[in-house]
Amino acid sequence: MSVNESASHFQSPDRNLALELVRATEAAAIRAVPWIGKGNKNAADGAAVDAMRKFLGTVDFEGVVVIGEGEKDQAPMLFNGEVVGTGVGPKCDIAVDPIDGTSLTAAGRSHAISMLAVSDRGTMLDASSVFYMDKLATGAAGAGVVSLDQSVGDNCRELARALGKPVGELVVAVLDRPRHQGLIDEIRSAGAATRLILDGDVAGGINAALPGTRIDACFGIGGCPEGVATAAAIKALGGFMQGRLAPLDDAERARGEAAGLRMDHIYGQDELVQGDNTIFVVTGVTDGSLVRGVERRGDVIETESLILRSASGTIRRIQATHLASKWLED
Ligand code: FBP
Repeated sequence: MSVNESASHFQSPDRNLALELVRATEAAAIRAVPWIGKGNKNAADGAAVDAMRKFLGTVDFEGVVVIGEGEKDQAPMLFNGEVVGTGVGPKCDIAVDPIDGTSLTAAGRSHAISMLAVSDRGTMLDASSVFYMDKLATGAAGAGVVSLDQSVGDNCRELARALGKPVGELVVAVLDRPRHQGLIDEIRSAGAATRLILDGDVAGGINAALPGTRIDACFGIGGCPEGVATAAAIKALGGFMQGRLAPLDDAERARGEAAGLRMDHIYGQDELVQGDNTIFVVTGVTDGSLVRGVERRGDVIETESLILRSASGTIRRIQATHLASKWLED
């Protein structure tokens, strides 16, 4: 490899970056510990955002936050366009969600996570002008089989057929929202089962694509930022995902169009995040089916994280033990 080749090789997000980035989601989860179950979601989110920002500042890369989070509730946020990292190393787009499931965290309920996704600079869809996206995520079996332009019933039946099981055994995760009553009815009319989730459709989507879980698909409308982040994970897992923007009103539709977004277009995972160089990192905040929640046990704090890398197709699970005295005041 020539010097130039090795220099340009270094400019892509690589496995070392993946291992560095997990420190940022671990930090966010750890800093959220004092707030888990304490009923204050903004305090939990704020602590996680501050920790993630601080740790990202120590990582050798030049990240631009394309997908920040929090605007919708005026929560603290790593804002869109914010530059993170030391500025030395690969130029990347970054999607962050210091806590996906702030209400879950505040209530002490399961399935809250801290996550971030990274890809080459200029590859993530900037969908920040629209809040919601209609999404569909499955494992590899869904490719060419399910689609947002098919009926929900057909999607359930075709996916079950592709998975080689009766539709009665198909499980579809759906955010438990009044707007999804029609979707829920259609899933059940097709004979499939729902797994209603209170919050956190990133974990729902990942569970759909991750081998060995009980969830076969995740359907429904959730946050746009979460949609793009989920696509980064799905690509690393070899799964299938589509998203269609779901503007709340004409004004939002017009803002999205002015930003160059296509409102009725079905975005494939390769349009949500282009290229094959995505890294997705998640650490558990509260216990979930994806990862265990962060837990303080006396002098130590335990975290569990997953690192997904599309370049290698690796799913790496990392269990870490941290000295509590380095992190939290008693
Ligand atoms: P927050 O933790 O940022 O509140 O997001 C939780 C979440 O459930 C996401 O996973 C999901 O995409 C979105 O909110 C759905 O939005 P809404 O709660 O408005 O239906």
